[in-house]
Amino acid sequence: MTAQNLPGRPHIAYRGDTLYIENVRLADLARAHGTPLFVYSKSAMLGALAAYQRGFAGRKAQICYAMKANSSLAILQLFARAGCGFDIVSGGELERVLAAGGEPGKIIFSGVGKTRAEMRQALETGIGCFNVESEAELDVLDEVARAMGKRAPVSIRVNPNVDAKTHPYISTGLKGNKFGIAHERTLATYQRAAALPGLQVVGIDCHIGSQITQESPYLDAMDRVLDLVDAIEAAGIRLHHIDFGGGLGIDYNGDTPPAADALWARLLAKLDARGYGDRQLMIEPGRSLVGNAGVCLTEVLYLKPGEQKNFCIVDAAMNDLPRPAMYEAYHQIVPLSVRAGNTSIWDLVGPICESGDWLGRDRALNLQPGDVLAVLSAGAYCMSMASNYNTRGRAAEVLVDGDQVHMIRQRESAADTFRHEKLL
Ligand code: LLP
Repeated sequence: MTAQNLPGRPHIAYRGDTLYIENVRLADLARAHGTPLFVYSKSAMLGALAAYQRGFAGRKAQICYAMKANSSLAILQLFARAGCGFDIVSGGELERVLAAGGEPGKIIFSGVGKTRAEMRQALETGIGCFNVESEAELDVLDEVARAMGKRAPVSIRVNPNVDAKTHPYISTGLKGNKFGIAHERTLATYQRAAALPGLQVVGIDCHIGSQITQESPYLDAMDRVLDLVDAIEAAGIRLHHIDFGGGLGIDYNGDTPPAADALWARLLAKLDARGYGDRQLMIEPGRSLVGNAGVCLTEVLYLKPGEQKNFCIVDAAMNDLPRPAMYEAYHQIVPLSVRAGNTSIWDLVGPICESGDWLGRDRALNLQPGDVLAVLSAGAYCMSMASNYNTRGRAAEVLVDGDQVHMIRQRESAADTFRHEKLL
């Protein structure tokens, strides 16, 4: 039987008419576990990580998986076992990653709004670095650390004012964004940090956005950051690590982001040329490690052909897959078994009572009620952004490893969704 891979997703392929993930028929998983169901390929995740590891071979580098992309415990465990550190953005993520076996010393803490309680929790745990985003945060962290008799390791997130050329909601490195310290303020902020006794300056970081599909924003951002490193070190403040953030895009629909190893070959050449090749490097990839490793299976409930639009109502919704509603994001949607015959044009929508509850528009498919479809590229920012809107329990998740299937999250029941509520 010939296998027909889906572009950019070597682990998902039609064998004959039937869609497989690794060696498992997706239809079997839908039958066994119900829908909506997230299914992930272990080899795809480790393969994506390997591209970064190849890129950094022979370098002092730490890959800190940005766990907001997909924070399910088993996935964190997989990356922890593969040697990853983690980029976290809340005390909740800290607890989660520790529960999954993450090493405290390899954790970096990003985000513009860390609370004092979160700072204490992270200092108690002994995380590797706080990525500080404002001068006000520096002062609070200094105070919290001193009160605990500790020194907080810090890096300052600089805003290089570079256009990541991506969706405005996920672009973070421009002046108008809430993230990071402005380029012009950076040196003064480092001088201030170096003078605070509760802080220990260890690095510098930036993150310019997400779903970046071009090389140039990275190269520009690196130049801008290294200009700052020059200035900061000239002022006598030594930076042990340089963190270039995450943001590398994936192929959702014919997108052509650079491969991680190719991109890093270019970036490392620049780093060497500017004399910083010996520094500890850090990166914070999220989407590119997990995005194309996952699919979401959803069953066709009803077909509702109409005068202007044909609607196909499926059992997954914007609470499971929020990206189309939030960013008008495109996810490919394919059938688990190919049926001969004519296709029609369908809008795939969920059961939620909002017009924004759509998963795909104007898709040519040959559909019948009861069919199961796979929403592709659903490994990143889907389950981790899922909600209980309309009192819909969150979906179940399975991880496939060759021909083995690990159930990694049970489907949430309605009772689970109101467990912490109280009647008057
Ligand atoms: N580091 C920091 C400081 C970040 O804010 C982010 C993502 C990352 C790393 C990881 O970026 P990645 O490699 O995944 O692009 N929900 C949106 C994406 C939001 C990204 C937020 N920050 C989406 O579904 O497209």
